[in-house]
Amino acid sequence: RDWDVVVVGSVNADLVVGVDRRPAPGETVLGSDLATHPGGKGANQAVAAARLGARAALVGRIGDDGHGALLRGALAADGVGLDRLATTPGVPTGVAMITVGPDGDNSIVVSPGANARLDPADVARARDVIAGASVVSLQLEVPLPAVEAAARIAAEAGGRVVLNLSPPAAVPDELLALCDPLVVNEHEAAFLLGAGARAEDPAAMAAALARSGPRSVVVTCGADGAVVADGAGPEGAGGTVRIASPTVEPVDTTGAGDAFTAALCLRLARGDSPPDAARLAVRAGAAAVRRPGAQSSFPTPDELPDPAPGG
Ligand code: RIB
Ligand code: NA
Repeated sequence: RDWDVVVVGSVNADLVVGVDRRPAPGETVLGSDLATHPGGKGANQAVAAARLGARAALVGRIGDDGHGALLRGALAADGVGLDRLATTPGVPTGVAMITVGPDGDNSIVVSPGANARLDPADVARARDVIAGASVVSLQLEVPLPAVEAAARIAAEAGGRVVLNLSPPAAVPDELLALCDPLVVNEHEAAFLLGAGARAEDPAAMAAALARSGPRSVVVTCGADGAVVADGAGPEGAGGTVRIASPTVEPVDTTGAGDAFTAALCLRLARGDSPPDAARLAVRAGAAAVRRPGAQSSFPTPDELPDPAPGG
């Protein structure tokens, strides 16, 4: 295989302001100086994987503006393969408007811009790259038809499909059935499971999701780590494994989920089981909350925190 991880996904400039509290409708609050960071769930995953040593490539779209140049430069600096990163003239590069609160928590509005123009024809043009990947990593900040096309190419080529259902949206059962694993946080898990599921514990949600179609499921739980559920074989889903996260002082949680998924994909590409891959992933996610920004916060292997006791 040419690539450990090929990401098909979004590229955003993150416009970040720190706030003590968020404004209510009709209200104005003053925040910190503006920071402009390279972001976007797709670009973040590609950079996070590359920084941990993966041969990683990105399939996506940017605009021919300053944000596009910033993002392309950041991706290139981390050695991400960019042959299939296309430019849409006259359309803004994706932007994420982010406020970060005192506890490192974030609220995000994404303006997709060029990301919304990624279509199945772009994905078809990237067939050689996608088919050459051990793992193809997908999220939902680009249009669903492009995501589905990428999953089909990966499956046909014998690659492994990882889907992070973020931001949450309904997806066809055929797509879920290819996911190995489906990666969701607790909100996304509850979204998929429907009313009432929010009260359930993450292990129960992971097991329920694994019975519903995906080959395996990972539910991420922030500071509480993650739960991995084996896929549904002929006998139904297997057990669940809880993975504890190292404890870190949160500065900015932006991108932590992307660092988690990228590390997971890298280790799956190298042949780890999902639980073993998740043991590295929680360390990558924890590292990313210790520093501001998304890509700017992602660790090299020697920056990973030690595993949690028993983790
Ligand atoms: O997952 C974090 C990312 O979500 C940010 O970088 C922002 O661009 C939004 O897409
Ligand atoms: Na961060």
